[in-house]
This record gives sequence, C-alpha cells and structure tokens, in this order.
Amino acid sequence: MATKHILIVPGDGIGQEVTAEGKKILDRIAAKFGHTFTYDDALVGHAAIEATGDPLPAVTLEKMHKADAVLFGAVGHPKYDNDPSAKVRPEQGLLKMRKELGLYANLRPIKLFDELLEASSIKPEILRGADILFFRELTGDIYFGEKGRKNNGDTAFDIAEYSRFEVERIARKAFEAARTRRKKLCSVDKANVIETSRLWREVIQKIAPEYPDVEVEHQFVDATAMLLIKDPKRFDVVVTANLFGDILTDEASQIAGSMGMLASASIGDGTGVYEPIHGSAHDITGKGVANPLASILSAALLLDISFGMKAESDAVIEAVDKVLKAGFRTGDIADAKTPKDKILGTAAMGDQVLAQL
Ligand code: NAD
Ligand code: IPM
Ligand code: MN
Repeated sequence: MATKHILIVPGDGIGQEVTAEGKKILDRIAAKFGHTFTYDDALVGHAAIEATGDPLPAVTLEKMHKADAVLFGAVGHPKYDNDPSAKVRPEQGLLKMRKELGLYANLRPIKLFDELLEASSIKPEILRGADILFFRELTGDIYFGEKGRKNNGDTAFDIAEYSRFEVERIARKAFEAARTRRKKLCSVDKANVIETSRLWREVIQKIAPEYPDVEVEHQFVDATAMLLIKDPKRFDVVVTANLFGDILTDEASQIAGSMGMLASASIGDGTGVYEPIHGSAHDITGKGVANPLASILSAALLLDISFGMKAESDAVIEAVDKVLKAGFRTGDIADAKTPKDKILGTAAMGDQVLAQL
C-alpha cells in the first residue's frame, strides 16, 4: 500500500491521445493493488509555447521535480518542423527537461511480443526471441554542445562533446543491467572516425575488467544498424551515445513491430520520466488511431523502476500480452490477416488492456 504522486505531461499531437490511456492503466493498478496514486498535469512543447511562450515553463519543471514520477507523451508540431528559422521550438522543452532533471540514462527495451511476429517487416525466424535493452546516453553528445552559424549564416556547426565521467556513469548502468540478463554488452560507437567515440571506447575498455562476468563487444554504429536487422537476437544490452541511440532505437522499433510498441524510461539524478520513443505523429494526430501500448508499457516501466512495484508492472505487461493474444490490434500492428473488427482505435485498445486488469 503506497501513496505516490504522478505528473502527467501529455505534450503535443498523439502524446495527448496515448498518455490518457497510460493514465487509465495506472488508475486501475492503484485500485487493484490498494495503492493511492495522486495526479497533476503540466504543459510542455507546442502546447506550452501556445499558452506561455516557453516550451518548458518553470511551473512544469517545478512540478516534475516534486513528483514521484512523470508519465510523458511527446512534443512536436509541423509548424516548427517546416520552419528551420524558428528560435523557440517544442523539442527544446524535452531537451531542457532531460538536462534539468539529470536524466542521463534512457532505457529502451526492444521486446517482441510473440503474437506480433507477423506484424514486423522482418522474417519471423530472424525475429523470434529477440530481446534487447538499449541504454541511450541522454544528456550529452551533439544534442547539448555549442551550436550556431558563422560566415553570415552560410556555415552551421554543432559540437559533440563527452566527458569521461558522462561515459562512465551510463556504461556502469549498462554493465549492471547486463549482469541481470544474458551478460552480454555491446558498446556502439564510431571510434574509427570520431574523437568522442574514441574516448567512449577507452572508458568502456577501462572499466570492463570490473565486470568479468559480462562479455563485451564493440561495434561501429554503421555495422550495428545492419546487424540489428540481420540478426537481432545477437544483442542483449546495447550502450551508446545520444544521437546513435536515438537513430538505432527507431530502427529497432521494427523488431518489436512498430514505433507504437516502444516504451522508455529516462532516469538519473532525480524524478524518472517515462515516455514512448515515438513523437507527436502529426500524420495521425486527432484520428484516434494511435497505438497506446507504448504509453501503457511506459507506465509499466514507471511502476517497476520508480516505484519498485514489480508485480504491478508485470500485471500490465501480462494484460497487454493477453490483449494481443486475443487478436486485438491497432492499425500499425495489424497485418493482412487481421479481421477488421479486431482493429481498434486508441481508446478502445486502452479499454481492452483495462479489461484484462
Ligand atoms: P513520429 O515518431 O512522431 O512518427 C513516425 C511514424 O510512426 C509516423 O508515421 C507515425 O504515424 C508513426 N507512429 C508513431 N507513433 C505511433 C503510434 N503510437 N501509433 C501508430 N503509429 C505511430 O516521428 P516524426 O514523424 O519523425 O516526428 C513528428 C514530430 O514528433 C516531430 O515534430 C518530432 O520532432 C517529434 N518527436 C518527438 C519525440 C518526443 O517527444 N520524444 C520523439 C520523436 C519525434
Ligand atoms: C526522442 C526524440 C527526441 C530526441 C527529439 C524530439 C528531441 O526523437 O525522444 O527520441 O532526439 O531525443
Ligand atoms: Mn527519437
């Protein structure tokens, strides 16, 4: 019986639609297991710019600091995507939140539900049994270095920077996770070209002897992009820099069937933030067809990691599994054989998961 305060930050686009379903599931878990969850909500991204001019208003950040955990949706709006000159942008709110909360480790589990073997564009025999845990570094790299223009705006630059300390703290998290899994760690970099990657590899090599039970391999990011599709089962835990991790996990979402299936946990110094890896998906916003399972599975990560509620978290994952076994799908994970009446909208899919709890 615990009392916890959860901040709901839906953000923009389908963030609004899917986060509502994640919250519904948290509510049901509280009732079922006798916990008290209190909620508040806050603005971020385009929604916050419209209301306050700031993509991460001080009041939102303050609420985040005070909460026991944050369930986050997505940020983004086509208006900014198509206007490279915009100075204030929704994504700045997300990046500032990560920096201010010290969320240096982004865990992105890539786990295929067996029922979705056919939903992926990869052959079932290549996919079956794939289970990867990405550790994406989240507060460094080219995202946070100095950026700007010179030569009257005709030259642009973004500086990628990593300190030994930053690499070591994410690496240790990944090594520790590998110990609880299949004891394999793949560190991904571009050390044949990039200096931050050479530091990255140096740090991994230096601390690896402290984890003799973990088998370490180094892969270049370009080869990794290929290996993920060729043989996803060869990976257990993967640790990589911010930009490489961003790109590789969108690619890896196809191992799980869809972007709409991939949850994430951002953890570090303070409040943990739980969010789908997908964005605000302008192309389907307002249609009620977004897959809410990434948000629901993010809620499961929240229960496990921030609240230590493993049984509650497992109950959510099991409920999702049962819904998929019963044949229900959202459009993104349906295939040619899915009967029309089994293809559900966002809220109806959330309701099916609820019904299993
Ligand atoms: P996206 O992840 O929003 O969408 C990519 C594709 O996947 C789209 O076709 C979309 O319809 C589909 N998709 C994503 N989530 C889905 C779901 N739950 N169910 C079904 N289909 C889903 O990426 P994008 O289109 O490149 O970017 C759109 C906006 O989102 C941009 O403004 C971008 O900056 C922002 N973005 C935000 C985040 C975040 O907040 N964490 C992440 C990625 C992109
Ligand atoms: C993500 C997104 C963000 C990132 C963008 C919107 C800043 O793609 O959460 O994966 O690149 O980290
Ligand atoms: Mn991304």
